[in-house]
Amino acid sequence: MIDYVPGLAKVPAAESSISFINGEEGILEYRGIRIEELAEHSNFEEVTYLLLDGELPNETELEELTHKISNARSLSPSMKSLIAHFPTDAHPMAALQTCVSAMGMEMERSGVQDESVRRHHAIEIIGKMPTMVAACHRARTGKKIVDPDPSLTRSADFLRMINDEIPDELSTKVMDVSLVLHADHTMNASTFAARVTASTESEPAAAIAAAVGSLSGPLHGGANERVLFMLDEVGSIEAVSEWFDGKMERKEKIMGLGHRVYKTKDPRATILQGLKTALFEKHGASPLYEIAVELERIAKERIGHRGIYPNVDFYSGIVYNKLGIPTDLFTPIFAISRVSGWMAHWLEQMKDNRLFRPTQVYTGRREVPYVPMKDRDKTVATS
Ligand code: COA
Repeated sequence: MIDYVPGLAKVPAAESSISFINGEEGILEYRGIRIEELAEHSNFEEVTYLLLDGELPNETELEELTHKISNARSLSPSMKSLIAHFPTDAHPMAALQTCVSAMGMEMERSGVQDESVRRHHAIEIIGKMPTMVAACHRARTGKKIVDPDPSLTRSADFLRMINDEIPDELSTKVMDVSLVLHADHTMNASTFAARVTASTESEPAAAIAAAVGSLSGPLHGGANERVLFMLDEVGSIEAVSEWFDGKMERKEKIMGLGHRVYKTKDPRATILQGLKTALFEKHGASPLYEIAVELERIAKERIGHRGIYPNVDFYSGIVYNKLGIPTDLFTPIFAISRVSGWMAHWLEQMKDNRLFRPTQVYTGRREVPYVPMKDRDKTVATS
């Protein structure tokens, strides 16, 4: 009999060689390479190759993958028409999950059994997700859905489709670094959801739709948009201390702080924070940033000893805000990055698949006598 562990904390759910975290020291590696190196030297396409194929690509391999991703970015007329009919007040994560599910209807079947076509499926999904997010955003704001521009990188083209102009070099770099930082993160909830779904040998779009749904919650990817609302609510540097104590007294969680694995500051939060210098120089400082820094200081002083520090979501919203991205698109941006990790996990799962079928600790009754309808207590039955 194995002990029940709520939330499966520290329970290994798979063997994986994709990413590694040392939560005590704040280390994250993709395929053994430190995230700091990748953020500085590699672009998102290169990191996608690394995650999918296990090694950094040479020039030809990178060119080939970039070309394939670019070619995969367009949406079918039926996908555009579906998007045009979404309610304009739908959350973009719900819209994205619907698009990914719908994509499953358009994809060639049988990719699951045939190893040679799996990578092709992975690239199709990685290519289309940013276009889906941008198209949903354009449709809800009354703008015409535009086609992707294959001459631009995936990051630059995403910003162009959102903001209606080709982004400058700095904005493209910042977007791309952010996508690199979010691309994989071991056995988090959405990756686990993807692997569980994949283990039934369902189609890849079904696995990614499950992952998108899982990412949308506030304890996972949904925290990033809530951080910005929270900093707004705090209002000023002077108000941080009292606001913080109020949250602690009411036993409310502070968004963007804490992590199941990191017991120190998330290295991705440090890199994102570093991006602000150039962004603020170009686009002006953000008053929310000073509030965030004070909140980090107070949290470290008062709850740091419990291993609660900023996670990746703490500074990402401030950065996205400066790129002109609406707050409710922050989590979809997480998804268009993490899709490379999800696809790498899908490939890994399919290589050596065993159906996920855990057990449970049953806490219900046994051998209960069946009561016919006429003999049931009506007040109980309808209450
Ligand atoms: N603010 C305040 N207290 C927090 C906290 C936070 N952000 N995160 C954890 N804690 C506290 C809990 O209240 C709990 O206290 P208790 O032992 O007195 O009840 C303790 O730390 C353990 O919390 P728990 O939620 O069980 O830990 P976990 O390992 O499951 O937490 C998270 C991981 C991410 C779910 C949690 O830190 C959280 O909810 N953070 C806020 C949401 C967020 O930023 N999510 C993005 C993650 S990348």
